Amino acid sequence: MIFVTGSAGFIASNFILNHLEHYEEKILGIDTLTYASNIPLLEDLKKNDKFLFFNFDINNSVEIEKLFNKYKPNKIINFAAESHVDKSIFNPDSFIKSNIVGTYNLLKCARKYQSDNFEINTRDFIFLHVSTDEVFGSLEPEEDSSTEHSQYKPNSPYSASKAASDHIVRAFNKTFNLNTIITNCSNNYGPYQFPEKLIPLIINNCLLEKSLPIYGNGLNIRDWIYVGDHCDALKSIIQKGKIGESYNIGGENQISNIELVKHICKLLDKKRPSSNIETYQDLIEFVPDRQAHDKRYSINIEKIKRHTGWSPKKNFTTGISETIDWYLANLNWLEKIKNSDYEQWIRSHYQQ
Ligand code: NAD
Ligand code: TYD
Repeated sequence: MIFVTGSAGFIASNFILNHLEHYEEKILGIDTLTYASNIPLLEDLKKNDKFLFFNFDINNSVEIEKLFNKYKPNKIINFAAESHVDKSIFNPDSFIKSNIVGTYNLLKCARKYQSDNFEINTRDFIFLHVSTDEVFGSLEPEEDSSTEHSQYKPNSPYSASKAASDHIVRAFNKTFNLNTIITNCSNNYGPYQFPEKLIPLIINNCLLEKSLPIYGNGLNIRDWIYVGDHCDALKSIIQKGKIGESYNIGGENQISNIELVKHICKLLDKKRPSSNIETYQDLIEFVPDRQAHDKRYSINIEKIKRHTGWSPKKNFTTGISETIDWYLANLNWLEKIKNSDYEQWIRSHYQQ
């Protein structure tokens, strides 16, 4: 059995959907169900016999320890986190609590479970910690991509909290022989992403004919990966990754925010033309920059390619077009997911 924390979030939901379709192994999901959780999909997943769900915070060591002892997983994938940079600037508290202290609590439970149940130096149990390329901080346009040996230089409370969690995970491997692997992935996009992140926010705002907020000059660069490719990379790491190591994952696809937004607008102009405006690009509005806005992320993925044979498969042009099609076909989902916490956050954030 695999334990998946943050199982109602964007990436974990995609991971679970794909896993349940292709594999027999059961999944036990743990999620505290924050505003960012995908409740409509969770309700569907719960109907599957191979999926069990527990509404717990990863800080709840008592209940998590009981789950370990009862269900005896051979893997745990820790996706649970507060994941939105802007929110971490607005208020870092929950980022410290969930991303740092939460990961620490999970590690404590896993350490006890591993030492009570498995011989040392086996792969019978793996703790896979899902992290981000943002821990490496901002790159200048001409700088080399970040490798697994690059210095950690996080700039936002979000990336700092993920960096801190990575260090604690590493220490539990070095000090206590916990079988950990860390992955640092670039920006994901695809179905079921909460519309606080750039791509679904732009699609949602186009459909509502609301302004498309671009922070600063829009020249910040991100390296986008299709969520399915990220999930495949995690599977290959579980099978072939070396215990105690960290692996970068990325889409080898760098694009500036403004280019990306214009590309989405052009696709929507064709797929769902507006009767009120000539092009969705008319909705673009440059707004004050994010504080400490990282200029560029770019991740070197030679190590995962070499160790596991994985490489990203989805071409960006196809991936973004399919993603837009998915949102257009799932307008109900988009409406259901935008709960009152989300509406309040969007209002307070964009009125600042
Ligand atoms: P998300 O915000 O969509 O989902 C996170 C889930 O974790 C939510 O369902 C939330 O309720 C849950 N959660 C938060 N705190 C919790 C706690 N204390 N206990 C239990 N559950 C809790 O995030 P996502 O985009 O799916 O990201 C998943 C993981 O991948 C995160 O760790 C993130 O740092 C990492 N990551 C994300 C990206 C990206 O582009 N989205 C890129 C690289 C790495
Ligand atoms: P985001 O999706 O929040 O991911 P991250 O900050 O983790 O990279 O943002 C992606 C990029 O888009 C980032 O450079 C910030 C920018 N951005 C905007 O310009 N406007 C927006 O409304 C949002 C949410 C992001």
